[in-house]
Amino acid sequence: MSKLVSPSILSADFGNLQKEIEMLNGSLADWIHLDIMDGVFVPNISFGLPVVKAVYKLSVKPLDVHLMIVNPEKYIDRFCKAGASILTVQYEACVHLHGIIQQIKSLGMKAGVSLNPHTPVSSVENVINDIDLLLVMSVNPGFGGQKFIPKSLDRIRQAKELIRQTGSGAQIEVDGGIYLENAGAVYSAGADILVSGNAIFSTADPQDYIKKLKLI
Ligand code: DX5
Ligand code: ZN
Repeated sequence: MSKLVSPSILSADFGNLQKEIEMLNGSLADWIHLDIMDGVFVPNISFGLPVVKAVYKLSVKPLDVHLMIVNPEKYIDRFCKAGASILTVQYEACVHLHGIIQQIKSLGMKAGVSLNPHTPVSSVENVINDIDLLLVMSVNPGFGGQKFIPKSLDRIRQAKELIRQTGSGAQIEVDGGIYLENAGAVYSAGADILVSGNAIFSTADPQDYIKKLKLI
């Protein structure tokens, strides 16, 4: 399976969002990762539906929307209308996770579930065959530019093993602290999709950085 890269625009220049999306359109990025933070589930607020809509209008890539919010079930149809192709909810924020996954899929989006660093991978064993994406958080959600938690490599291997054992078609996405220096290890552990924000948007040549992440 080929490697996918999903740049997180959390670290983009929001004063020049159009330019940033055009840069991603012209890059080898597969998806665009949008981090939605509500200041309740995580101690930070990012951006919401109007920004997702604006990115959707400009982007030629599928939108990979990561909800770090409480009560995500209230907003699923609105994120679908705003242009999300992949919608990921945090496991810890969902009381009725199975129902939320069905809700996402019934609208034609791919359904993802994200696990905080402390959440056992086995927590999703009863829904692993229902989801398209398992997101392994490799930092505590809330901020870009944090340090990769080394234990995440074990968790990616566990996720890979769970998918193998169950015959699930879910892809593994890894999010947080990904740089060229650790991307190879993350892929080798079993990741299919790398999210990267700070690394990409803080370099002089983001398109070249994305290319290098793809070719690693
Ligand atoms: C963290 C977000 C990440 C973050 C990744 O809460 O979910 O997507 O933007 O950014 P970097 O690559 O800067 O760690
Ligand atoms: Zn994210």
